[in-house]
Amino acid sequence: MSSEEAGQLEGEEVVLAVTGSIAAYKACEVLRRLQDAGAVVRVTMTHNAAEFVSPLTFAALSGHRVISGSFQDPQPERLAHIRWAKRCSAFCVVPATADFLAKMALGIADDFPSSLHLAVEAPVLVAPAMEEKMWAHPAVQRNIETLKSRGVRIVDPGVGHLASGGHGPGRLAEPLDIVASIVEMVGAPSTPSAQGTLAGQQVLVSAGPTREHLDPVRMLSNPSSGKMGFAVAVEAHSRGAKVVLVSGPTSLPDPPGVEVVRVVTVDEMADALVSRAANADALVMAAAPADFRPQRRSPEKIKKAGTDKLTLELVATTDILEQLRQAPGQRLVVGFAAETGDLEVAAQEKMVRKGCDLIVANRVGLPGGGFESDLNEVVILDRLGGRTMVDSSPKPEIAAAIWDAVADFNERASAGSSGPSA
Ligand SMILES: Cc1cc2nc3c(=O)[nH]c(=O)nc-3n(C[C@H](O)[C@H](O)[C@H](O)COP(=O)(O)O)c2cc1C
Repeated sequence: MSSEEAGQLEGEEVVLAVTGSIAAYKACEVLRRLQDAGAVVRVTMTHNAAEFVSPLTFAALSGHRVISGSFQDPQPERLAHIRWAKRCSAFCVVPATADFLAKMALGIADDFPSSLHLAVEAPVLVAPAMEEKMWAHPAVQRNIETLKSRGVRIVDPGVGHLASGGHGPGRLAEPLDIVASIVEMVGAPSTPSAQGTLAGQQVLVSAGPTREHLDPVRMLSNPSSGKMGFAVAVEAHSRGAKVVLVSGPTSLPDPPGVEVVRVVTVDEMADALVSRAANADALVMAAAPADFRPQRRSPEKIKKAGTDKLTLELVATTDILEQLRQAPGQRLVVGFAAETGDLEVAAQEKMVRKGCDLIVANRVGLPGGGFESDLNEVVILDRLGGRTMVDSSPKPEIAAAIWDAVADFNERASAGSSGPSA
């Protein structure tokens, strides 16, 4: 423990979830070092973890009862998983098995630690440990990407001798490195790091699709998952910004530390963004709002019986960027362009037409990328002629590239003129 970390978790409660890996014994060391940093540590274990280290060991070290099963609490009416979730400042899975990562990615809650995971609003960290081949398996890597896209912090396993006798990546990270990461994570949301490139900035992000109903049960929408906008918001938060995320309907949970405003229609999205634009230093429009909506919304379900053709009259929806352009205040604007034709020409034209400072363009319709995928391939253009290509990458990496491009743009803008900055 470095001298800077000592006492940094004073007053914080950390939940340590131990799962059934051979590295479970190293969680004892992590627990001790968290206590050195001042944290109160509560331990939950999977039933399989108890095959490796006795719950008694963790109870004795932590000074608190260890819970594994959902029905093990002697006072079930007090809903321990909700109480623990409300109190904790961090939920840390050390070590994290391939199995538990899959449960987290899918939202399975069939024991105490996995139920607790779904109940916590505090930041979440996982330190995976497993055999090299398991770690490299596409299913495990996909689960890791899913967790990253939700803002879960991953302490990558190290390379070294494995319990199988092999040598490679998969070994649990060093306990001190795990604790340093927890300290950083707990400190990050409330005290943005001095190096945070967005420290002190207010960032407004839009994400996801919108829905325009033709009747109470049918609607016009698109397959946007919201993953890109959520990743942009999470990355801005981790760089120190105060972030408001305006999202259309998605299945993604609220990222910790980000204020989320849920909307349904284009008009609701426009209102939510315009009313918050004046305070924003930067606006990132990663949402996919509908361009058209039915001219008339039927209050009753449109009946199929006796009708073999239905003609819909569509009208253009409100232009959100245009409304935002007229909103008070000055802010940097990042637009998105999903195009099918000549990508860069279309994106350049849209950037100028919509008054954006930067535009993130991606080709739609290619296999393995775009709307619902965890991956995307983009080109980021800016109005000063900057151009960054990002090859097929997980959306959190694209989000990082976007904020890097913003920083680079600001540097060039302030060297040459007094353009907007974020
Ligand atoms: C000796 C032994 C060591 C194991 N080590 C690991 C490990 O390091 N990582 C892992 O993902 N699974 C490991 N497993 C497999 C898990 O214990 C198994 O997938 C189990 O279902 C995980 O349960 P849990 O996620 O509920 O704790 C190991 C199994 C055995 C028998």
